[in-house]
Formats: sequence, structure tokens, C-alpha cells
Amino acid sequence: MAPLLSVEAATKRFGGLLANKEISLAIEPGEIVGLIGPNGAGKTTLFNCITGYMHPDEGRIAFDGADITHTRPERICGLGVARTWQVVRAFGRMTALDNVICGALERTNRVAEARARAADLLDFTELGARTHVAAANLTLADKKRLEIARALATRPRLLLLDEAMSGLTPRETAAAVQLVRRIHEELGVTICVVEHVMEVVMPLSHRVVVLDGGVKIADGRPHDIVRDELVISAYLGARRAAR
Ligand SMILES: Nc1ncnc2c1ncn2[C@@H]1O[C@H](COP(=O)(O)OP(=O)(O)OP(=O)(O)O)[C@@H](O)[C@H]1O
Ligand SMILES: [Mg+2]
Repeated sequence: MAPLLSVEAATKRFGGLLANKEISLAIEPGEIVGLIGPNGAGKTTLFNCITGYMHPDEGRIAFDGADITHTRPERICGLGVARTWQVVRAFGRMTALDNVICGALERTNRVAEARARAADLLDFTELGARTHVAAANLTLADKKRLEIARALATRPRLLLLDEAMSGLTPRETAAAVQLVRRIHEELGVTICVVEHVMEVVMPLSHRVVVLDGGVKIADGRPHDIVRDELVISAYLGARRAAR
């Protein structure tokens, strides 16, 4: 089976800085892949390149066999890739419902249909009680759920979550993990999660990809990644020492 997403030797520079250096990875349909690495490793840049907000300087990115290396973000969304943002980007003055309707309008021009789909997704993400609240007035945890609902409204086949759990309490984090599992199991969406909390990433992910300084340094099962000497010295060891 062909991979759903294929990144081949993608390089992204900002002036002299190599944010992504010849990164290659594949995501298979049905996987949950964890993408980890220290601050500045290039995780968000890679998401930006996959979703068309930026384009790699070199290399190739394909989704479901189609080359998307230089494709525009809205077209990539239309093909079935959705994302959330590390720093939440909900439309603050719009209600939760209207935020999700924006996503749903990717798939239909009928407002009533988009509204019904958005209401279903607010229920699915347990935001039903917040339907008519302005996004700016939601808690951080609810804003992050709202972004997920808006992303799901575009009917993605691949969902990229950029630190969807950072800044959440342990209870909120556990609920967010449950939500990610339900998106995978009930909606059948393939997922890539960027997350710094190892207690979250390792049990959730089928496979973990590790970036450090723009370079992919490991790619494997969580069980093997936590024992990988390079990963421990670049990332996990420092995190353990910090705790
Ligand atoms: N738009 C930009 N312009 C210039 N430099 C950038 C830009 N975006 C990212 N960078 C730089 O590229 C490198 C990788 O950044 P990136 O945000 O991809 O890292 P990250 O792995 O997501 O880190 P974090 O865990 O802190 O979110 C960093 O050195 C960052 O400063
Ligand atoms: Mg980031």
C-alpha cells in the first residue's frame, strides 16, 4: 500500500538557518505518528511545509500519490490534510459554532448543511455547551478542542496536531488524549501529533519520528525510541534531567 503522506528529502531554509534538512518520512493510512524533538528542531516548519503554508526549498512532498510540494494550503486542505496551530488561531470574535462552520464550508456551499455538520462536531469534541460562546471567551483547553473541531469539519484523511495538549492540566490532557483516540477510531483519520509530553506521545503513537536541529535522528516504535542512545542524548535525557 502506498503511504498516505510521503516526504522525500525536504529541506527548508530561513536565510542561513536550516530548519529542515533533507527530511524523509512516510505516514501510512491508519497510523498515529508522534513527531518529537527539542525546541527549534523543525517540527512546526515541517507541518508548515506539508500543509502548504511554506514550501520546501528542496525535496518533494506527496499526499495520496499527488505531488503537493508547491501546492497552495486551501488546495491541500481540499485534498484531505488538516492541521491545528501550536499557538491557537481560533477566530476570537466568532462563536464556536461559526468557527467550525468555516471548516465545514470547505466541503459544501450550503450553510444549513455546514451548520449541521459543525453542530455534530461540537458535540463530538464535547463543546456542545459552548456552541454560542465567542471563541475568545473559551478556556485554552476548549480553544484547542475548537481548532480540532474546525479541522475535522474539513473532513481530513490526515490530521496534523501541533502541540494540541501543551499548557493543559493533567485532567484536560487526559481528555485530549481520549479525543485523539476517538478521532482515530471512530472517524478513521490518520494522525500526526507534535507533543512534548512523553507520557502522552509514547502510549498514543504507533510510531515516533524524532527531529533534532532540523535533522531526522530516529524513526521507529515508541518502545525502541525511548531506548535510542541518540534520542536520549539529544532530547529525552535533557527532559528527564529537567524534571
Ligand atoms: N518563519 C520563520 N522565519 C525564520 N526562522 C524561522 C521561522 N519559523 C521557524 N524558524 C526557525 O526554524 C527553526 C525551527 O523552528 P520550528 O518552529 O519549526 O521548531 P519546532 O520544532 O516547532 O520548535 P518548538 O518545539 O519550540 O515549537 C528555529 O530555529 C526557528 O527559529
Ligand atoms: Mg513548534
